[in-house]
Amino acid sequence: MKNGREMIVYYNGSYMQKDSVSISPDDRGFLFGDGTYEVIRVYNSRIFRMSDHLKRLKHSLHEIEIRSLDVAHLEHVGKTLIEKNPETAQDAVLYIQVTRGTAARSHLFPEHIEPTVYAALSGAPAGRTAIDNGLKIILLQDQRWGRCDIKSISLLANVLAAEEARKQDAYEAVFVRDSVITEGTRTNIAAVFDGTVETHPTGHRILGGITRDVVLELCHRENIPVREQAIAEARLYEADEIFLMGTTTEIGPVIRVNDREIGSGRPGPVTQRLQKSFRAVIAR
Ligand code: PDD
Repeated sequence: MKNGREMIVYYNGSYMQKDSVSISPDDRGFLFGDGTYEVIRVYNSRIFRMSDHLKRLKHSLHEIEIRSLDVAHLEHVGKTLIEKNPETAQDAVLYIQVTRGTAARSHLFPEHIEPTVYAALSGAPAGRTAIDNGLKIILLQDQRWGRCDIKSISLLANVLAAEEARKQDAYEAVFVRDSVITEGTRTNIAAVFDGTVETHPTGHRILGGITRDVVLELCHRENIPVREQAIAEARLYEADEIFLMGTTTEIGPVIRVNDREIGSGRPGPVTQRLQKSFRAVIAR
């Protein structure tokens, strides 16, 4: 894999070495976390579910009132980055970030401002085997704002929770709000009860994950019953199986919540079946 310095990235209309990007300290992403982003997988130099990610990006941009961006053009940007970074693109993550732009610091939207757009590939995350062997998660109070459907770059609550998980030797911290399970810092979560997959419904309290969408499609196709309904915190421990869903995690079996073992203490059959089907979708 190339190191960051040799990587060609996209920044405000141009392709350049990553080292050549210079972002103003007055960028509102830097000052306010005023922006949105997407993380997309690239398998075998092909972008996975790009149109779904762009649809979600459009939603985020609309909700935060950044209007003057040609979102469709980002597909071309992604493909160009793949061409320009062929080695990395074999198994990679495409990161896209849009901020409101650069202007003297003021909470109000500045007039005549152009969004800052950055996109780059990086090598796919390692650790597949550890994920497939089964993960520990911890539960934490959801300290985030009320619009988790917007993929905001303001991720402080997520960052602090992820770090707390690491301190407790857990892969992920999963949030609890009003005594129900919402989602993880960078994943959605589902649990299996008597063969039915249960997961929090979309809305303002979770990010509508693309991986979650793929999993629900697979359940539908394979006649696995699904209930999109919030799971009470106390009930989660009674699940037969639990799994995480996310672009970087894919489907990650959970075998431990805090210090309690889940189900058999090993990745469960429904989770493994979905992992297998998910792999087949990627291979296509
Ligand atoms: N995170 N929930 C949250 C809070 C997330 O940040 C993510 C993705 C997901 C899963 O969504 P998807 O399946 O579309 O990746 C759910 C990305 C990977 C990140 O921030 O790195």
